[in-house]
Amino acid sequence: MTASLKQLPIQILLIMASCRHISSKTVGPTTPPLVPINPLQMDTRSVVLKGENKAERVELQNPVNLSLECIWTGNQKKQLNITGYWRKDGVEIQDSRVTVNLENQQYKLKQTFSIVNQESLGNYTCVFGNEAELEFILSAPQVGEKRDKPVVSYVGDFVVLTCKMEETKPKPNTWNWYKNNGTHKEEISEATEPHRYLISNDNWKTKLKVKNVSEADSGLYYCGAVYNISTSMSSVELKVITIMEPLKPFLSILVEVVILVAAILIYERSHAKKKETEANGPNSDPKNTQSQGEDNAAEENASVRQRKA
Ligand SMILES: *[C@@H]1O[C@H](CO)[C@@H](O)[C@H](O)[C@H]1NC(C)=O
Ligand SMILES: *[C@@H]1O[C@H](CO)[C@@H](O)[C@H](O)[C@H]1NC(C)=O
Ligand SMILES: *[C@@H]1O[C@H](CO)[C@@H](O)[C@H](O)[C@H]1NC(C)=O
Ligand SMILES: *[C@@H]1O[C@H](CO)[C@@H](O)[C@H](O)[C@H]1NC(C)=O
Ligand SMILES: *[C@@H]1O[C@H](CO)[C@@H](O)[C@H](O)[C@H]1NC(C)=O
Ligand SMILES: *[C@@H]1O[C@H](CO)[C@@H](O)[C@H](O)[C@H]1NC(C)=O
Repeated sequence: MTASLKQLPIQILLIMASCRHISSKTVGPTTPPLVPINPLQMDTRSVVLKGENKAERVELQNPVNLSLECIWTGNQKKQLNITGYWRKDGVEIQDSRVTVNLENQQYKLKQTFSIVNQESLGNYTCVFGNEAELEFILSAPQVGEKRDKPVVSYVGDFVVLTCKMEETKPKPNTWNWYKNNGTHKEEISEATEPHRYLISNDNWKTKLKVKNVSEADSGLYYCGAVYNISTSMSSVELKVITIMEPLKPFLSILVEVVILVAAILIYERSHAKKKETEANGPNSDPKNTQSQGEDNAAEENASVRQRKA
């Protein structure tokens, strides 16, 4: 009885703790955790700019209210105030112009942006007069290592294309695959006719297997790591060749070798004929110091040449 009473506050604490964990920061502990209202979380990035420009990468997984702060240490002029504003993807953001006063030998520019989808990701730049700027490059987690060589396969064979997100980055919800059809990224799946695609996802990795490839399968493929904020693309190039393709250089070398050998044989033959006509003189010279074996070999060669002729 007393024991269970003692445990009660602990249980309440545990429930409250798990509620806090599941719901976002702004949800009070009295709110039932199953209510799917999910106000945007707040996040802040503050960067100090010492020179004239700088870029800062920010990778986001979930929609967020992001407060960006630029602190510029200024230049020699140390004007008492300066005009500051923001740009999104190179275009000035309306009504973002403010007068920034010099405080503690630095200028501070701060604004909060709602980053909720692919469109709101991109480049946010704070600008101090015409003198300095700092760019925040906002994106979903990106695949770091890019493959620049195409994957090569042969007609009729199968091929496996892979994509991998670094395990230090957040795990994607899932993965998608697309093929460039010239104008668009067309999504492909195992249901895509004629059922030659197999997709296997394993947390930070994805594999696309294409069976019985033809030259038409050549081209750019994209894997998309799906995050709540947006899908992060990476590309893999596939090159399908016929079995004859890698043989081509070999065949051209072969042709060259055949021609060369033919030329040598023709040269040899005409040279041998000349030698034969001269052979009567020097070969019968008694001072010839050739050994018996070499003589035999020479004779054999001569007879072979005669048979060939
Ligand atoms: C996020 O920003 C939007 C508009 O910028 C605002 O309406 C909303 O209240 C903010 N949410 C939070 C949790 O700060
Ligand atoms: C900016 O500084 C100048 C002097 O450098 C001053 O005359 C002006 O009133 C200041 N403007 C604002 C908005 O503080
Ligand atoms: C953002 O900036 C980076 C690097 O400067 C650039 O590669 C990228 O294309 C820019 N993105 C947009 C949407 O302007
Ligand atoms: C590429 O895919 C898009 C979207 O599925 C489609 O509208 C377009 O016609 C396709 N283009 C070609 C050349 O097949
Ligand atoms: C492979 O594809 C070719 C056409 O590209 C088709 O003629 C052949 O039947 C296919 N083979 C298999 C085993 O599906
Ligand atoms: C993505 O969003 C859903 C619904 O808003 C949420 O339940 C889930 O935890 C989020 N995923 C991640 C990895 O944060």
